Amino acid sequence: MQEVYGYLRDANMLILASPIYYHGISGQLKCTIDRFYSALYPAAPMSLAKTAMFLSSGDPEMYEGAKFSFEGDFLGYLGLENKGMYTCAGDVKESVLEEIRTMAAGL
Ligand SMILES: Cc1cc2nc3c(=O)[nH]c(=O)nc-3n(C[C@H](O)[C@H](O)[C@H](O)COP(=O)(O)O)c2cc1C
Repeated sequence: MQEVYGYLRDANMLILASPIYYHGISGQLKCTIDRFYSALYPAAPMSLAKTAMFLSSGDPEMYEGAKFSFEGDFLGYLGLENKGMYTCAGDVKESVLEEIRTMAAGL
C-alpha cells in the first residue's frame, strides 16, 4: 500500500474497478478504499480531481450496491468529480468501450 500511496500523490484521476460479488464491490476493492482514509484525510492531494468506476457482473441490473459504495462512501468523502460508472454484464460490449473512450477523450 505504501507504493500505492506514492502513485496517489501524483495522480489526477483514480479509476476503481471491480467485479460485482454478492451485490456489491469485491472485498479486495473495499479493503483498498478503506486504506484511502488515512492517505487522503483530511484532504485529497491537490492533484487528485476526478474518479470513475468500472464494473463487471453476471446480472445487468446488479449495480446498486456498488453505486452506493462509489457515490456515498467514496465520492462523497473525497469530493472528486464523478466521471461516471461503466458497467458490463457478460461479454465486453463495444458500446461501453465507446462510452469509456468518449469519457477519456474529454479529460
Ligand atoms: C463470489 C462471487 C459472487 C458473485 N456475485 C454476483 C452478484 O451478486 N451479482 C452478479 O451479477 N454477478 C455476481 N458474480 C459474477 C461476477 O460479477 C462475474 O463473474 C465477474 O464480473 C466476471 O465476469 P465473467 O465471469 O464474465 O468474467 C459473482 C461472482 C463470484 C465469483
